[in-house]
Amino acid sequence: MDVITREILFNRVRLWILEAGAFIRNKINDPLQINTKSNPKDLVTEMDRKVEYFFASKIRRFYPEHSLLSEEGYGDNLLSSDGTIWVIDPIDGTMNFVHQKKNFAISIGIYEQGIGEIGFIYDVMNNNLYSAMRESGAYKNDQKLTQLDKNKTLNESLICLNHRWLCENHFVDEQVMYQLIKDVRGTRTYGSAALEFAYVAEGAADAYITMSLQPWDIAAGKIIVHEVGGLTTDISGKEVGMLEKSSIITCNPNIQKQLIEKYLLKAKKVT
Ligand code: IPD
Ligand code: CA
Ligand code: CA
Repeated sequence: MDVITREILFNRVRLWILEAGAFIRNKINDPLQINTKSNPKDLVTEMDRKVEYFFASKIRRFYPEHSLLSEEGYGDNLLSSDGTIWVIDPIDGTMNFVHQKKNFAISIGIYEQGIGEIGFIYDVMNNNLYSAMRESGAYKNDQKLTQLDKNKTLNESLICLNHRWLCENHFVDEQVMYQLIKDVRGTRTYGSAALEFAYVAEGAADAYITMSLQPWDIAAGKIIVHEVGGLTTDISGKEVGMLEKSSIITCNPNIQKQLIEKYLLKAKKVT
C-alpha cells in the first residue's frame, strides 16, 4: 500500500472508530441483551453486533473491493491473505463491557497481502486511541510512543497473563508458569487482549502471554507493538499468520528469548 493511500485510509478509519466509540459511550447505561456463544463464559451483546455492523456497512460501501475478517458474523469467509483485509473485533473484552462498563476496546487491523498496514485499538471509556501505520511509528492519541526500553530485564518486568494459565490446562504446564510468576517483578490481568497489546506498546507492561487468541484479537496489536520495536510470535517463537488462531507472546524485544526458551518452550504441552 502506498503512503498516500495508507494515510487517507488511516484518517477515515480514525473518524469511524471515534464515532463508534461515542455511540457506545452514549449507550453504556442502557439495558443490555446478553447472550452466550461457545460456552457460558463466552459472552456477546447486541452492542458487539451493532458495532461490527457499523464497520461492515462502511467497508462494503466505501471499499467494496476489500475483505473483512471479524468476530460477530458480518465478515467474509477468508481462505487466503490476498488483497486488503480488515480484521475487526468490535468489542474486545466483552466480559468487562458487561460487568464493568469499562476496560474494553475496539480493535481494527488493516492488512494488504498479509502485511500489517494500519492498526487501531480504542479504549472507549478512557477515550484513548492507540494507532500505528507501517513504518510511521505508533501513537497514543496525539503522542508518539517511544521505542521499547532495550535494557529491560526479566526480573524488572511486568507481565500480562490470565490466571487460567496457572490452573491445570491443555496448553502449558502450570508448574513452569508458577516459576515465571516468581521470577518477574509483577503480573497483571486486564481481560482484553487488545488493551494488553496496547499496554505493551506504551511500555506499561513488558509482555502479554496467552495461549489461544483469534486473528481479530491479534491483528491491530501486532502492528502497533511492531512499530515500537516489540515482537509478537506464538509461544514457540514462530511467526503467526494473519488468519490463524494462535498462542501469543508479544513483548519487549530484550526479554523475548528468555521468556520463550527458559519458560514457554518448557511449559508447552504437545496438544
Ligand atoms: C477475549 C478477550 C480476553 C481474552 C480472550 C478473548 P472477547 O475477547 O480479549 O482478554 O483472554 O481470549 O477471546 O471475546 O472479549 O472479544
Ligand atoms: Ca476479542
Ligand atoms: Ca469481541
